[in-house]
Amino acid sequence: MDSILVTGNGPLNGQIPIAGAKNACLTLMPATLLSEEPLTLTNAPRLSDIKTMTALLQSLGAEVSSLQDGQVLAMSSHDLTSQTADYEIVRKMRASNLVLGPLLARFGQAVVSLPGGCAIGARPMDLHVEGLEALGAEIELKDGYLHANAPGGLKGAVHEMRFASVGATENIVMAATLAKGTTVLKNAAREPEIVDLVECLRKMGAQISGEGTSTIEIQGVDRLHGATHQVVTDRIELGTYMLAPAMCGGEVELLGGRMALVESFAAKLDAAGVQVEETPKGLKVARKNGRVNAVDVVTEPFPGFPTDLQAQMMALMCTAEGTSVLEERIFENRFMHAPELVRMGANIEVHGGTATVTGVERLKGAPVMATDLRASVSLILAGMAAEGETTVSRVYHLDRGYEHVVRKLEGVGAKIERIKGQ
Ligand code: UD1
Repeated sequence: MDSILVTGNGPLNGQIPIAGAKNACLTLMPATLLSEEPLTLTNAPRLSDIKTMTALLQSLGAEVSSLQDGQVLAMSSHDLTSQTADYEIVRKMRASNLVLGPLLARFGQAVVSLPGGCAIGARPMDLHVEGLEALGAEIELKDGYLHANAPGGLKGAVHEMRFASVGATENIVMAATLAKGTTVLKNAAREPEIVDLVECLRKMGAQISGEGTSTIEIQGVDRLHGATHQVVTDRIELGTYMLAPAMCGGEVELLGGRMALVESFAAKLDAAGVQVEETPKGLKVARKNGRVNAVDVVTEPFPGFPTDLQAQMMALMCTAEGTSVLEERIFENRFMHAPELVRMGANIEVHGGTATVTGVERLKGAPVMATDLRASVSLILAGMAAEGETTVSRVYHLDRGYEHVVRKLEGVGAKIERIKGQ
């Protein structure tokens, strides 16, 4: 298995291009199942999760062509052959569950394995099921698979989610586009990836309003047509690389970044003493002198501080001046990076969903292990700011969500290389 070798060094300078959003692309791809006509996505990120979704769609009979070095995905679901999402593919990635709503809407039936994905909590699917049942689906769990049926088609309904789940919002919105009548989804998630999905669905002929607010209204239509859509910028990749100059010092411009995507995160960086400014090409992040200040963080649904940046923010807080408290409210088991950071000399105490981090002057390089996607990149960031060498093993997690990570960080002066495994 490959590993990443990072040698801590001085300030970073230069530019990093930010890719299209993994999490947007993973919900835009299943949207192809809603229509017989082609859907083309541009600005797609080159990631193993995208390959997994490609394999899943192909297993259903969809055609998916990866063009222009993977940045364009041309898809057609004209001749689907199956409505079953198999465990062998779904277990690799939780987002596979996003085929449930579209298949059910278009065919009145779907069989989807319960998902796997990052080991960061229980991650059930009850909110997806409740929403689709509100639209008239009958869903039962048999042998690890959700069997969903809507023999007479889905019907619009008013439904309030108990929690603003991102995936459940996406599944319910996609399903409602082809339901009879109007659906009002209350307590919907407001993430930019959902806004991006709705913009694409609208290009396909869906009638939707309220995206980006907690109430989304969908007027069902008989059919959706083809479209071309550009995937929104990846705000998590953006936030991750914003932390590179914050941790190592220097000045880095994140090309394609926008403040609106990372407002609550940028506010925390500002409070920590890191400068963030918008430029014509993106966002510029600089840390000039000394250590950053400790800041407290609570993860929340958008527009709150994203859980997907908590591990990386913890890496920054490890060398901050003072003590910070990081509270994880989205996932119950998302501090697996903490013991790895402690191996590098960090002072972290975890109690339930709260981590208390007392900054040390400097971290020290060590062999560490990536435990999930965002944890792996937090260890790379920590290694870049540490004294000596850090080897991060199990980096296959990283390939799920960060394209060309070595090339991008090398480009701004980091000492980082990928070591091929046996
Ligand atoms: C998406 C993102 C993921 C991010 C998360 C929260 C994708 C592909 N992934 O994941 O990177 O960390 O949003 O911002 O977009 N829950 C239930 N029942 C359900 C569904 C969810 O209890 O039916 C719980 C989960 O266990 C978790 C919380 O709700 O504790 C948030 O999950 P959700 O918003 O659904 O995240 P995902 O869509 O899986």
